[in-house]
Amino acid sequence: MPLKIVAGNWKMNLLFHEAEALIREVIEKSPDNENAPLNIFAVPFPYLNLAQNLTQGTKNFAAAAQNCSSFKSGAYTGEVSASMLASLNIKYCLVGHSERRTIFKENADELVAKMNLLLENHIIPIWCCGESLNERKQNKQFDVIQHQMNTEVFTLTQDLFEKVVIAYEPVWAIGTGLSATAEQAQEIHSFIRKSISKKYSDDTANKTSILYGGSCNVDNSKELFSLKDVDGGLIGGASLKSDSFVKIISTMYELL
Ligand code: PGA
Repeated sequence: MPLKIVAGNWKMNLLFHEAEALIREVIEKSPDNENAPLNIFAVPFPYLNLAQNLTQGTKNFAAAAQNCSSFKSGAYTGEVSASMLASLNIKYCLVGHSERRTIFKENADELVAKMNLLLENHIIPIWCCGESLNERKQNKQFDVIQHQMNTEVFTLTQDLFEKVVIAYEPVWAIGTGLSATAEQAQEIHSFIRKSISKKYSDDTANKTSILYGGSCNVDNSKELFSLKDVDGGLIGGASLKSDSFVKIISTMYELL
């Protein structure tokens, strides 16, 4: 069975003291035992060491980076390498979030380079994919996601692919309050799992965690997390308040 994961993606939000208070509160109020899901805080770079320190004594919490450089090291002012993340003991990193793809124009080659560098450094990429509103309107969502898989995550060997977590995030649902319906989410998640079966094996597909992201909140998380091929969520806005993030974590916990 795939690992069940609830990951909060803070994006460029919260100040240092707010970050500390939020992580402490979420850990304090959430179930933390061997039956609980894995809960991740994907925080801005300056808070990584803090998040790592606060989560390291827990059973189910971990810190993640939101991005890393596609270069190994050297004269790249402002960049943060995968090996730097590893030196802080970080175990997860988002790759290819739609905001990185659209605002920062990250392309498939860069995303593949990032995933390989992360994996070399024993960091699990949480690889994001998803179609835009226009693509959905033209019923191109399957082609778009298949293309993203073929040119990015499917370039990995089976061994390396098996370490990756996938997040399906329809771009039109991110930050809009308009989540995918249960039917839309299950349809794409099942499509992704079948594609993994075809590319690698049934066993690999059945082990891969496929998270849903895009306006996932307290009200819809139960329905989304109950779907056969949804193994958890990547939560933006609702991860910025302890009450809502704890409720979403507890929803997953109760379903396990
Ligand atoms: P949202 O963001 O939950 O605020 O829609 C999700 C994401 O971008 O990961």
